[in-house]
Amino acid sequence: MSSSGDLDALVRAEFGRTFGGAPTAMARAPARVELLGNHTDYNGGLVIAAAIDRYTEIAGRAVEGRLARVRSVQFSAGDEFAVDRIEPGADGSWGRYVRGVLWSLGERLNVRGGFEAAIAGDVPLGAGLSSSASLQAALAMFLIAAGVVEDPAVLDERPPCAGRADELRMALAQMLQRGENEFVGVASGLLDQFSVLFGKAGFALSLDCRSLEFARLSLGEPAPAIVVCDSKTSRRLADGMYNKRRAECERVVTYFGARWLRDIALEQLEQHWDRLDPVGRLRARHVLTENARVQRGADALRAGRLAEFGALMSASHASSRDDFDNSAPALDALIEAAEAAPGFLGGKLSGAGWAGCTVNLVETGRAGAFAATVSERFARRFGTVPDVHVCHAAAGATAWTATI
Ligand code: GLA
Repeated sequence: MSSSGDLDALVRAEFGRTFGGAPTAMARAPARVELLGNHTDYNGGLVIAAAIDRYTEIAGRAVEGRLARVRSVQFSAGDEFAVDRIEPGADGSWGRYVRGVLWSLGERLNVRGGFEAAIAGDVPLGAGLSSSASLQAALAMFLIAAGVVEDPAVLDERPPCAGRADELRMALAQMLQRGENEFVGVASGLLDQFSVLFGKAGFALSLDCRSLEFARLSLGEPAPAIVVCDSKTSRRLADGMYNKRRAECERVVTYFGARWLRDIALEQLEQHWDRLDPVGRLRARHVLTENARVQRGADALRAGRLAEFGALMSASHASSRDDFDNSAPALDALIEAAEAAPGFLGGKLSGAGWAGCTVNLVETGRAGAFAATVSERFARRFGTVPDVHVCHAAAGATAWTATI
């Protein structure tokens, strides 16, 4: 892991090497973990997440003309495109995400001209920590700070007032989600973009994906560590499975003639159990019980009952594994390895599932011992050593003017 100071220096140096001169604006966005609320977001449900202290950072400046030139340190590659004629570029590439941000902002905001930007980051890629939403949010903040794209404040005619900054961030999160869904072609919910934009150090974030009501909830003092254990198993499978699960949930929604799965009560599901398709009803039971766990989790955080919150995370993992069927032997093994490890409060698979990471809440002073124990136990069983990242809840995306 590099500190944010290292990333600053790295991205500035890359900017100078690639484009010459100095950047005028910088931006940074965190990664995210989902703490509770697995596969609830696109079902209009409830979720609790946190932004974490792994970042994407951008240094750049506006230029005359309509050309965008970007350089990624992590991919050792560049991209170039005209901001008025944005073609998607290669499938699944980081460049497609970059272009998608311009496309989605440009749908609602005036794109004033071209830009040059260097991008660096220490978010593990493809590990389920939303490196893509982190990139999107950092780029959007940079484009606005550098004056390449007009400020979203133009979307709100009211004078500055309480809550306006958050409303604008929510509008931005939705634009970026649309970019990911329609331009990049990945059918995800709002969770990722919301989390990386709304983070607060030491706080979790709750979101009602139907009403878009949200809250920042303290994780207590001292805040627990958020320990991400990466099984390093390939997430390629996850894309097809994600859409399959969405369709399975949709079938139950159609059966009840509802708008969202969220609108159906658990009792209704139980009453119709025998008439429902045997796969869809399990998926629905997970989503509905998960919404209830998120509600109880939010109450537990408000009352400072962290152990209860942790137990709900572990219950969430069991429900994902048994009803939503999106766990995997490696993820179950990581959770089993965590269960008796020092400082463990609770843990679950993170994000889509099937591969990638688990997220664990761990008493802050014991995170090192926890990491060593999980690594050792997992390695003994699987023969591979997981990557363990000890993280903390962090602030959301920000931008600033670059000084030399
Ligand atoms: C992925 C998606 C999110 C969410 C999670 C599952 O991370 O990007 O929108 O659906 O899976 O909760």
